[in-house]
Amino acid sequence: MDTRLFEGREHAAFYQKYRFSPQENVQASVFSYLEKKGASFQLAVDVGCGSGQSTKMLAKRFEEVVGMDISEAQIEEAKQASHPSNISYLVCPAEEPPFEDNSVDLITAFAAAHWFNTPIFMREVDRVLKPSGCVVLCSYTTGMQLHYEDRTEKLMEIFAEMRDLIYMYADEKIKIVVNDYQEIFDSLPFPDKESIPLLSRINTVDKVPMSIGDLMGYIESLSPYQTFLRVQPDAAKSRLQKTAERVLEAMGVSSRETSLELRVRYVCILGCKSS
Ligand SMILES: C[S@@+](CC[C@H](N)C(=O)[O-])C[C@H]1O[C@@H](n2cnc3c(N)ncnc32)[C@H](O)[C@@H]1O
Repeated sequence: MDTRLFEGREHAAFYQKYRFSPQENVQASVFSYLEKKGASFQLAVDVGCGSGQSTKMLAKRFEEVVGMDISEAQIEEAKQASHPSNISYLVCPAEEPPFEDNSVDLITAFAAAHWFNTPIFMREVDRVLKPSGCVVLCSYTTGMQLHYEDRTEKLMEIFAEMRDLIYMYADEKIKIVVNDYQEIFDSLPFPDKESIPLLSRINTVDKVPMSIGDLMGYIESLSPYQTFLRVQPDAAKSRLQKTAERVLEAMGVSSRETSLELRVRYVCILGCKSS
């Protein structure tokens, strides 16, 4: 069965506000892979699209883009946010994409594929992709770094403590992310993934500038934090507050608007269906 997280209205709103889109070098890697594979750019489907962070990047190249997500609240957020007119959104599980056989040029999932029922999803990817169609399954990993002047070490210590605490509340599926999507890579039923190892599986480091307030919002949007909050609301809120205070102190600043840099490591699985 799929894992039902991220579905509450409040969580979806956090998501819309604080989650970042795939950054420039991830986008560049995806599009250079598609060029290399001679992809056609008619229909792209972004599965587990959340509130549309990852869907929008596809709209500049594809004629038509469909974002689908199992969560009504996420799709509602996506529809309400401004988006290009060639994107449409629908509520639908990854395991039941409503597309004809051999009809889709690209399937993507960003920070989402680990939540799906992998065998059923992979079977559907194989069914709906056109011959030579591509699939891109990316996620940021738990390997993140915080940078601010010479305070990186202290900030990393604070961040690691918070991460280790909230990951005690993480779903089993997070192990797939911790293992750098090896399970997803192994399950992808296209031999092509092995013929281009450098592009089939890449790790990139992206830079995301954000304020301390945004960083706290990002932590709040993480599913393990939301579980922590549900199970122990007072402890979760006070721990988050304490973390914000420690970050301010470590940076030697008093405003939550101060920017620091979050560096994000991605894992990205790329594959191409046989022609
Ligand atoms: C971490 S969010 C990623 C959202 C967005 N792609 C991004 O890059 O930020 C994961 C999304 O996957 C969705 N999801 C989880 N299981 C799903 C499933 N079986 N079918 C479709 N969507 C699913 C959740 O509702 C959630 O919106």
